[in-house]
Amino acid sequence: MTEPFDVVDVIRTKRDGGELAPEQIDWVVDAYTRGAVGDEQMAALAMSIFIRGMNRAEISRWTQAMIDSGETMDFASLPRPTADKHSTGGVGDKITLPLAPLVAAFDVAVPQLSGRGLGHTGGTLDKMEAIAGWQAEIPNEQIMHMLGSGPGAVICAAGAGLAPADKKLYALRDITSTVDCVPLISSSIMSKKIAEGTDSLVLDVKVGSGAFMKDLDSARELATTMVALGTDHGVKTTAFLTDMDTPLGLTAGNALEVREAVEVLAGGGPADVIELTVALAREMLASAGKPDVDVEAALADGRAMDRWKAMVREQGGDPDAPLPVAEHTHDIVAETDGYLSRLDALAVGISAWRLGAGRARKGEQVQAVAGVELHAKPGDRVKRGQPVMTLHTATPERFDRAIDALEGGYDICEEKPAVRQSVVLDRIAGE
Ligand code: URA
Repeated sequence: MTEPFDVVDVIRTKRDGGELAPEQIDWVVDAYTRGAVGDEQMAALAMSIFIRGMNRAEISRWTQAMIDSGETMDFASLPRPTADKHSTGGVGDKITLPLAPLVAAFDVAVPQLSGRGLGHTGGTLDKMEAIAGWQAEIPNEQIMHMLGSGPGAVICAAGAGLAPADKKLYALRDITSTVDCVPLISSSIMSKKIAEGTDSLVLDVKVGSGAFMKDLDSARELATTMVALGTDHGVKTTAFLTDMDTPLGLTAGNALEVREAVEVLAGGGPADVIELTVALAREMLASAGKPDVDVEAALADGRAMDRWKAMVREQGGDPDAPLPVAEHTHDIVAETDGYLSRLDALAVGISAWRLGAGRARKGEQVQAVAGVELHAKPGDRVKRGQPVMTLHTATPERFDRAIDALEGGYDICEEKPAVRQSVVLDRIAGE
């Protein structure tokens, strides 16, 4: 086949700060997906985009080209409106687990086609797989049944057919240090979400040490770009900027996080996890045309828990089976009396990862039991000798490196520190 463009010209255009033509973008994404452009050439182009950026028209076209690389889903035949949520990834971020059944309790369908974790942020599927028997891979017919006449929510693996260009490109970006780049992140996330076919989408863009975006300005730029892409493609899209300087809730690690999510569904759980679950649920329900429902009531009276149990059972899981528990634990104790003034999300995330909760390479097994359990959050009083955290693992030889990761990751001070009042820092709405 004769190719209409020369990839070297495309790379050079971007390398020199030029704008890619729409036809060049369509071609290069398609040619990369079918193997006519090599990994080394796409790596050079990704690095040029990382350094030079892309304008709004280029990002929009790149996103559409990635959507066009595969199949799209269509939920138009469902009897319920659809609303989805996407988080850019953080430490202890188990919000999808209580959120999906909570929104479904109001008859809004939630298609959570999710991924596995890589690096220090956990993946939703890895968490769900801590539940005995639960299966991530299910056919499209079962997804439609669960959303239409079943529990109304599904958390499952995104099929290989959705945006295959992104799957290939994301794996390449991961090994060429080109992940944390607004045009590439926004087109990657939004191509999958638009291809999935949801009516509306709420984005949880994390800001802080444990997130891709370390400061508010870059998080706002990412959120604004993704909201515009969703809006351009007919998906009602809103974004929240939320704090990820400190872990969300009191657990980071797969089974530990499922336990905490179930506590929220039972009407309890840590304040920040409840706050974010409720805020995102309200936004999703408002986007789906249900702005005035009492979200908290569905957590308190068991409606959300009923949907959760039905959702887990549909995928072969036993929601009442005990969660696995680590055989080995190690306490990190306070060295002085005082207040915990800082607890770094990245340090906790890396520690949980080193304990076995995450994977260093694609396809590696993760431990269900591994992770970090927090006994105090910033602002809490601690006493000398009291455990501040407990590390959990099935393989105790991992403790030393996990402890090293926490070195300098928390401070204890004499004066009560000022702490964040709310985990939600800002909201960005589409037009
Ligand atoms: N998540 C994605 O799906 N893509 C990115 O580029 C970054 C995070």
